[in-house]
Amino acid sequence: MKKLVVVCLAALAFSCGEDKKEQKTEMKTETKVEKAAPAAADSKEAVVSIEGNDQMQFNKKEIRVKAGQKVKLTLKHVGKMEKAVMGHNWALLTQDADVATVGNAAAMAKDNDYIPADMTDKFIVHTKMIGGGESVTIEFDAPEAGTYTYMCTFPGHYALMQGKFIVE
Ligand code: CO
Repeated sequence: MKKLVVVCLAALAFSCGEDKKEQKTEMKTETKVEKAAPAAADSKEAVVSIEGNDQMQFNKKEIRVKAGQKVKLTLKHVGKMEKAVMGHNWALLTQDADVATVGNAAAMAKDNDYIPADMTDKFIVHTKMIGGGESVTIEFDAPEAGTYTYMCTFPGHYALMQGKFIVE
C-alpha cells in the first residue's frame, strides 16, 4: 500500500514539472516574434521590379532610388515570345552615353548578348537577355545622384524601351 502512494506522488511531481517546461517554451517563442517585427523596413536596399512584354514595352518609364542604396532589380518578361524574336534586357547607361549610339551598336552585337564589346564603359550594369516567361535579378550599388537612362539593347527596341533611372 505504501509503495503505491509513493509511485502516485512521483507521477504527480513529474507531470507538474512538464507543465512548467511547456509554459517556458511558449514564452520564448512569443519574445522571438516581437523582436523580428521591426526589422522589416530596410532603406539600405531598394527592391525594384520592372516588366517587359510582347508589345516591346517596359511597364515603367521612371525608376527612383536613393544614393547609397543597394539596388535589387528584377526584370520579368511577361510575354510569350522567344528571346530570339522579342528579347529584353535592362541596361543602365552612364550619363555621357548616347542612347541611339549605344542602341545601334548593340544591334550589331548579337554574339555578345547585344552588348557592344567596345562600349562596355557606357554600361553601369545590365541584365542578360531573356525571353517570354523568364525573369532575371541583378544587384548593384546605386550610382551617384543624378538622372540616368535605362534601355533594352535588343535590335530596334530602345526607341520604345527606355526610361529614366533617377538617383536622389
Ligand atoms: Co527588348
